[in-house]
Amino acid sequence: MTSKPNHPDFKSADDWLNPKKLSAVFGPQRDVAEGKRVFIGISGGIAVYKVCTVVSRLAQAGAQVTVAMTESATKFVSPITFQALSGNPVYTSSWDHLESSDPQHISLADRCDAALIAPCTMNTLSAIVHGQTDSVVALILSAINRDKTPVLIAPAMNDAMWAQPANLRNVELAKSDGNTIVGPGTGWQACRHDGTGRMSEPADLIQALVMSITSQSS
Ligand SMILES: Cc1cc2nc3c(=O)[nH]c(=O)nc-3n(C[C@H](O)[C@H](O)[C@H](O)COP(=O)(O)O)c2cc1C
Repeated sequence: MTSKPNHPDFKSADDWLNPKKLSAVFGPQRDVAEGKRVFIGISGGIAVYKVCTVVSRLAQAGAQVTVAMTESATKFVSPITFQALSGNPVYTSSWDHLESSDPQHISLADRCDAALIAPCTMNTLSAIVHGQTDSVVALILSAINRDKTPVLIAPAMNDAMWAQPANLRNVELAKSDGNTIVGPGTGWQACRHDGTGRMSEPADLIQALVMSITSQSS
């Protein structure tokens, strides 16, 4: 369920999905010709489909969205969907799109204004907090300076996975390393359980991005 809006320009829950409203935050501004650069890292959970809406609305609002997907994520939704929605190539391997003077993961990490990992699997969360960089998503995240760039993580998993002591330890580590955890929600899960672990809704993810970007610039 969408949490209560707490930003003066967003008066109803629907505003968080309204590209016209969102363009005030993500689109080109008077002093900057280009929109905000948002990195979306996607790992392999059933909730990948919800991120299509997030990428589409941000792109419509004028954001420059770059998507990276783990190999498992590509089993759920094809990279071509995110390429079409974002209007940019999708990174699916650490060896893609190598740039001549600068490894792609460094330049992408340096350039982004905010990063969102959604869905964040139990495995990718573990990789992030333990400094493992064997997927392109974890590799790009490893090069983001949390003092400069907000990193939002939206965990998504079955309720038993979410409640594992190892996972809950990783959530605490992620917070103490300067990441913001968004959700998860409680309710229906694709595994036919009712419990905690379902990924936050697209409006909640965008709301969290808006709040992190506006608090950086204020
Ligand atoms: C149908 C299906 C759905 C899955 N959903 C999730 C999920 O929601 N969350 C999760 O943590 N793992 C889920 N998994 C397991 C991950 O895909 C698996 O742990 C994978 O290794 C994660 O790799 P990644 O973190 O590199 O994307 C699912 C697997 C399958 C086959």
